[in-house]
Amino acid sequence: MPAFLDIKVQMPVLYSSYYIFMWGGEEFMVYVTGDCHGDFRRFSKKGQKNSGIKIADDDYIIVCGDFALLWAKNRELEYNLRWFSQLPYTVLWVQGNHENYNMIEGYPLEEWHGGKVRHIVRDKVILLERGQVFTIEDKTFFTFGGASSHDISGGILDRGSPAYKADYRRAKRSGKPFRILNESWWEHELSDEAEFEEGSRNLARAGYKVDYVISHCGSNRLQKALECYYMSPGWFGQDILTNYFEELEDKLQYKHWFCGHYHEDLRMDSRHTILYHSVAPVESGGVYIRVNKAGFPNQG
Ligand SMILES: [Fe+2]
Repeated sequence: MPAFLDIKVQMPVLYSSYYIFMWGGEEFMVYVTGDCHGDFRRFSKKGQKNSGIKIADDDYIIVCGDFALLWAKNRELEYNLRWFSQLPYTVLWVQGNHENYNMIEGYPLEEWHGGKVRHIVRDKVILLERGQVFTIEDKTFFTFGGASSHDISGGILDRGSPAYKADYRRAKRSGKPFRILNESWWEHELSDEAEFEEGSRNLARAGYKVDYVISHCGSNRLQKALECYYMSPGWFGQDILTNYFEELEDKLQYKHWFCGHYHEDLRMDSRHTILYHSVAPVESGGVYIRVNKAGFPNQG
């Protein structure tokens, strides 16, 4: 099929041109996007062109988790840190489940725009911590990263365990996905009680009203809606974080909730958008509705 007939390819470009037409007149813009998993091509000039957008100097782009800049201390990280330091705009992100939490905790907590952050690259790559309310370009954002990994049905192996080699062989033979503790899986992928309490305190201070919510996973009801979309009941498990978000769905007033995690670009309804490769201005509320012909989400 000729590329110009492939609506899945063409739609993002068409919609993105629409974004620029509709919101390009503002002085600064805040964009949102989904999981990167260490692939940062969407931030380059060519990547922006492919998405039909142009991120201007001093704009912001928020990644809804699984950014994975911090994954391992190696030459790739050094290269990426240097590359991000030269960007004219700022990348903000919330944690996903695929982040090296041990490395994240090596960066000090600081105050920025009303909430707690960690500057990974000073003023260029900034982690928005869990349970915070930020004011960015006159818009308020509640941020709460993290999620349960779904790709661990083969187990979480501990390299320090005497049974590691046997466990590894067993996991390999099973053909199921597995991860290694503190190398590709970290316990802090889900929040602790203090972070939930801090989130509730900050929201109470904001009168339980913000413009946007940025998270990695979604609430129980969002997951249920996604299961219906995929005709796959029970596909997603509930956990302490999806339960917390479920409570917020009833308590919190917000214009739009953006999340990642489900590896889809999908507008669930007028107030919920799941992002993956798409880049959209927050004001757009997300407009992508892409059909997954395989019928099942590629979770991560
Ligand atoms: Fe992911």
